[in-house]
Amino acid sequence: MSRILITGSVDGLGRLTAEALHAQGHDVIVHARNADRAAHLRPLTDQGAGIVIGDFADRDAVRRIAAELAGQAPLDAVIHNVGVWSGRKVMPVNIIAPYLLTALLPLPRRLVYLSSGSHFGGRPRVGGVDWQGREAGSYGDSKLYVTTLAAAMARLFPDVLSNSVDPGWVPTRMGGAGAPDSLELGHRTQEWLATSDDPDAHTSGGYWYHQHRQEPDPSVHDTAFQDDLLSALADETGERLPRR
Ligand SMILES: NC(=O)c1ccc[n+]([C@@H]2O[C@H](COP(=O)([O-])OP(=O)(O)OC[C@H]3O[C@@H](n4cnc5c(N)ncnc54)[C@H](OP(=O)(O)O)[C@@H]3O)[C@@H](O)[C@H]2O)c1
Repeated sequence: MSRILITGSVDGLGRLTAEALHAQGHDVIVHARNADRAAHLRPLTDQGAGIVIGDFADRDAVRRIAAELAGQAPLDAVIHNVGVWSGRKVMPVNIIAPYLLTALLPLPRRLVYLSSGSHFGGRPRVGGVDWQGREAGSYGDSKLYVTTLAAAMARLFPDVLSNSVDPGWVPTRMGGAGAPDSLELGHRTQEWLATSDDPDAHTSGGYWYHQHRQEPDPSVHDTAFQDDLLSALADETGERLPRR
């Protein structure tokens, strides 16, 4: 049994991931933006799932949650699922929050970051990015950054299994009712990478789609871009990745 945090787990893929892992007997910690949304997680929390509450567009909330979790039993895995499609919260939620949580939590054995095929349209540069969300951010850029963060974690921390997942275009609130891909397959890869003893899941630095490793945009494995990104995120947040 593993202890696993799934961010953004009130709805969509995060909720389905949390429900599946809970049903498999794992010790799941779910996450909601506020108390009203947390109430929707009662079916899980009433059955023993842990919960953390805070808006991931708010850096102080991410810091508070990291401190709360650091005082508890160590996590075996974190699934950085939280994401928004458009608007001013894109950079704060899609890349700043996962980076901060990664930097502030004791490193778990496994890290899974939700990417997207949209990362191929992201621009591999970090100059002039509005990390604070004063204006609408580019979803494609944010997903290129989080995919690159996953690859950088794999390179820098060889004892951590760090991977990113394109769940496909699936019918969640974000994906829309007409999305063509399988909702079931949209969350299975995250669960597998977070928990499985399958040798194929004991890998790091991968970009996955439906349990198949794919080639991400070449900039994801460009170590100079990885270092630029980590440096920009450290400067922006004041937090550096832990040393090993
Ligand atoms: N759906 C797709 O086709 C697709 C394709 C590629 C990648 N992805 C990625 O997959 C991940 C999950 O997407 P999804 O389709 O499941 O999205 P979704 O249905 O919109 O669900 C997103 C979840 O994140 C939570 N969330 C959003 N902003 C938050 C914030 N500021 N603080 C705390 N929680 C917040 C939402 O909470 P509330 O319910 O309270 O808003 C919800 O639980 C995202 O990273 C997304 O980019 C999705």
